[in-house]
Amino acid sequence: MTTKNPKRRSQAWFGKQDRDGFVHRSWMKNQGYPSDEFDGRPIIGICNTWSELTPCNGHFRELAEFVKRGVYEAGGFPLEFPVMSLGETQLRPTAMLFRNLASMDVEESIRGNPIDGVVLLMGCDKTTPALMMGAASCGLPTIGLSGGPMLNGKFHGKDIGSGTGVWMMSEMVRAGVMSQDEFTEAESCMNRSKGHCNTMGTASTMASMVESLGMALPENAAIPAADSRRNRLAQLTGRRIVQLVEEDISIDKILTREAFENAIRVNAAIGGSTNAVIHLLALAGRVGIPLRLEDWDEIGSKMPCLVNLQPSGHFLMEDFYYAGGLPAVMREIAPLLHLDAMTVNGRTIGENIAKAPCYNREVIKTVEEPFKEHAGIAVLKGNLAPDGAVIKPSAASPHLLQHRGRAVVFESIEDFHARIDSDDLDIDETCVMVLKNCGPRGYPGMAEVGNMPLPPKILQKGITDMVRVSDARMSGTAYGTVVLHTSPEASAGGPLALVRDGDMIELDVPARRLHLEVDAAELQRRREQWVAPQPPVRGYAKLYVEHVQQAHLGADLDFLVGNSGAAVPRDSH
Ligand code: FES
Repeated sequence: MTTKNPKRRSQAWFGKQDRDGFVHRSWMKNQGYPSDEFDGRPIIGICNTWSELTPCNGHFRELAEFVKRGVYEAGGFPLEFPVMSLGETQLRPTAMLFRNLASMDVEESIRGNPIDGVVLLMGCDKTTPALMMGAASCGLPTIGLSGGPMLNGKFHGKDIGSGTGVWMMSEMVRAGVMSQDEFTEAESCMNRSKGHCNTMGTASTMASMVESLGMALPENAAIPAADSRRNRLAQLTGRRIVQLVEEDISIDKILTREAFENAIRVNAAIGGSTNAVIHLLALAGRVGIPLRLEDWDEIGSKMPCLVNLQPSGHFLMEDFYYAGGLPAVMREIAPLLHLDAMTVNGRTIGENIAKAPCYNREVIKTVEEPFKEHAGIAVLKGNLAPDGAVIKPSAASPHLLQHRGRAVVFESIEDFHARIDSDDLDIDETCVMVLKNCGPRGYPGMAEVGNMPLPPKILQKGITDMVRVSDARMSGTAYGTVVLHTSPEASAGGPLALVRDGDMIELDVPARRLHLEVDAAELQRRREQWVAPQPPVRGYAKLYVEHVQQAHLGADLDFLVGNSGAAVPRDSH
């Protein structure tokens, strides 16, 4: 056997002619691989989050075959491996609890195996940041490939979006304007093809972040999962990762500060999810890029939103793809981007989007006539959120962006569920709903419960939005005047823990202010009475609660921040 490239990382396993080399090759050969597969050609790991419990990623075994086709065409040797899959709709208490655990799985699986480059198969919300974070902590040449959104949902002659439609219709049932039978019928109409949520929710947002960071081939964000062009993209990704290894372009050469600034601006232009804030802060931490929560406001909040997609707008991801997809949006905001940022296809962002066409100005608007002005994430500060909180003004009600109201406090999500439908609940539409103990340590895992449903007696008046404040996250498919990620969280002893029924809270988004109108002496008295919740006593939840950082830092585990590279570990036998 001749060795093509003895310096290749994988050759530390397969390039030896001794007992260990025998062991590494021989057991692989039980899968039928011929000897020349081990001759030093790039070995490409295909990191797969396929799982029948993650329906958004249910087609990934098929997608992996197209990646393999491309890898073989380019002279590489593909090896697919599974990692922990995080299904947003099934996993309890919340998929976010396991984002960091999955990232550890990815990191150690890459580092510990004979891999020279990686393709990340990502789809459902947390699978994207988990894989990106894990790969970033290794630093090998890496390309992201998203699974693509579902086709438009179709119900009674209308389009319905995954997630957004659920929140809307469940409120209609609670308000008595939709029957339970119709609600049940909509289940099979909303999600009718393979793929992830078809709104600009967290999955589509994160697929767009991967593309705007330069970590995926152009068009990755929007091609529907059911469109044959998704498989073509997979094949091209397989070809390109082999070249990326040959060119030794590692992930840290793509994930620069400029790339993150591009992503923040793109997130605003697409009306992206607030979850991107937490995930990109954590990802930046893995590659040592100094990114702060405040950067989201300073870089992105003056940006216009160009994309008329649910949950902020009307259309869905399928429409977005036919209109030109993310390249068309990025071309429109090109003067605001770092056009010389390098991408995984070997060209700059500017080169990739230079001729990107837009085919539908109803879906993708222009900067001159945007869908919404000032659409990025606003970062709020004040005595209720000393380290910050976020709100997505484009998804909020304009008349509530400056609001003062009486707090109605729920100590936990169970407390909320127990009382929200009660006629006895002392609440009206001017109140501020406050939910505690749903942050990183409190839930644990920072669940997507911040968009609390409104009380039925208020919905029945035709009112659909109220100011809500919590330390939780919100589904990217949700909407409303919802203040999220309040930091420090209640369970960590943040001021949110001290709010009581009847306190006045002032929200002033233009002034970036979130203020609890209780004097310092009274807050101190309450702090002395506060009792910290009992932490989990064993297992991963214990590790997580002891080490998770607060939301404004990205909620990564403190010992995972940074990277360890991909040096070959010592031999196993
Ligand atoms: Fe998987 Fe929305 S539930 S992307």
